[in-house]
Amino acid sequence: MTESAPVDPTQTPGWQKLEGVADGFAPDLRAWFDADPQRAERYTFEAADLTVDLSKNLVTEEILGALIEVAKSAGVAERYQAMISGEHINVTEDRAVLHTALRRPKDSAGLVPPAPFVVDGENVDDEVHATLDKVYAFADKIRSGEWTGVTGKRIETVVNIGIGGSDLGPVMVYEALKPYVQPGLEARFVSNIDPADVFEKTADLDPETTLFIVASKTFGTLETLTNARLAREWLWAKLAEAGAIDDTDEARSGAVAKHFVAVSTALDKVAAFGIDPENAFGFWDWVGGRYSVDSAIGTSVVIAVGRENWQSFLAGFHAIDEHMRTTPLEKNVPVLMGLLNVWYTNFLGAQSHAVLPYTQYLHRFPAYLQQLTMESNGKSVRWDGSAVVTDTGEIFWGEPGTNGQHAFYQLIHQGTRIIPADFIAVANPAHPLKDGTGDGGAVQPGADVHALFMANYFAQTKALAFGKTADEVRAEGTKESVVPARVFSGNRPTTSILAPALTPSVVGQLIALYEHIVFTEGTIWGIDSFDQWGVELGKQLALQIAPAVDGDSAALESQDSSTKALIARYLELRK
Ligand code: F6P
Repeated sequence: MTESAPVDPTQTPGWQKLEGVADGFAPDLRAWFDADPQRAERYTFEAADLTVDLSKNLVTEEILGALIEVAKSAGVAERYQAMISGEHINVTEDRAVLHTALRRPKDSAGLVPPAPFVVDGENVDDEVHATLDKVYAFADKIRSGEWTGVTGKRIETVVNIGIGGSDLGPVMVYEALKPYVQPGLEARFVSNIDPADVFEKTADLDPETTLFIVASKTFGTLETLTNARLAREWLWAKLAEAGAIDDTDEARSGAVAKHFVAVSTALDKVAAFGIDPENAFGFWDWVGGRYSVDSAIGTSVVIAVGRENWQSFLAGFHAIDEHMRTTPLEKNVPVLMGLLNVWYTNFLGAQSHAVLPYTQYLHRFPAYLQQLTMESNGKSVRWDGSAVVTDTGEIFWGEPGTNGQHAFYQLIHQGTRIIPADFIAVANPAHPLKDGTGDGGAVQPGADVHALFMANYFAQTKALAFGKTADEVRAEGTKESVVPARVFSGNRPTTSILAPALTPSVVGQLIALYEHIVFTEGTIWGIDSFDQWGVELGKQLALQIAPAVDGDSAALESQDSSTKALIARYLELRK
């Protein structure tokens, strides 16, 4: 089933109201907060364990009302229902989009759509849970030491080889859940085809205790397959050097059987690589790469943190899926956050969006969101092939606070651009350290360092919202010539997201939150957020250029003059 033509949002009454409001818009958060003591309370929402304060955004009741009208006109709720029901809303690939099915609980009571959930002839729930059970059983064997390498030693390091969605999700979640990793186990992640990556990640490893997971949906991605071959060579060479295997095909394939497993939808290609399909974990073409972290693609993390934590992680996603499905748009956190992004992008000229985690364990979250948001919504045509009628997508970027404060926050506070920013923090740190001596000044002996960290989190959104006027600067005794440089305009929009702790469930909730923000925006813009044709041309050209870089003069001659000259110079420089 294909989708109906997208609604042109610009022709909806809500959009036209917003155009009227945006014309000459002069936000004044100080005045808005002064006039409305309930503002924070009214604009703070709960979604599962997440408390989300939208009050420091540049919105009024009129703006939010009009945004919700746009969401209704574009059919956000109806399209979400179509997505979770298995309709082929990935139109250009004619596929269902069912990442939400990856976290439907095994206990099927009350599920929507109800169990058995059959899509395109497959019982989706059965397939998902059979694969999960296989991953759990395998992870248990690694964690308990029952699965050993070729010399009988237990596995200590798992190296995930993948790229894009087959890397960014697992590495982000592994880093986020470090406090939950079983002692004695470590995961590493190889993605770049730059040989430095696989070299550095394997240099200090013991081949006898290392397991490689080749994670590739298609099992055809150049980077991943090349790195997998390099890793296999490394394994054979190192095991031979240690006298653990001899130089026979049998010994080599025995080593692969114990030290390589795969995650893929293409089990035939897995077998061709030499990995026993028994040691492969499947998934399905209805899971997009950037939506796949909660599929078998997360096997490295399941090994590291164990099945119970993984089940909580999945439950976190499901809680937000249910919030998205059942909460009226007026209180629906992913919908509201998606609508705010539309407001900033299409009416206030924002080009980028910062994500600033105030928890070190989320340090890879902005990188993860870059693929999720930009590969999904960086599109110029709508799902019916017509040109988009609005700007789409935002440049997502960020770094953990407080590091960012000492780097790029200057531009967010005083630059000429509007940069909406999401501040994410948790109340209970994994490591509640105290500063024993303090600094003899503001920081008292025994100070709770997480409280100090959180003071920064609260201070930043306050400064961005309310700024500092020229009179306030003068009142500090600043000389007049420097006053303008020290003024903060305020009215810089932020969203504060606060969770009790960075548990597996909360990590799942955060990911699902952003998945559905992306969905909301994509629906309003009328785009297929689930294809990624924009990555194809570069892949094709890399293969076409490779012979030229390798010295084939006819291939070199066929290039445009700039590419030819650059390759020629590279060949001159290459020793
Ligand atoms: O870069 C494009 C892309 O197809 C991503 O969408 C995907 O996550 C990544 O490549 C990796 O693909 P695969 O898992 O098939 O190796």
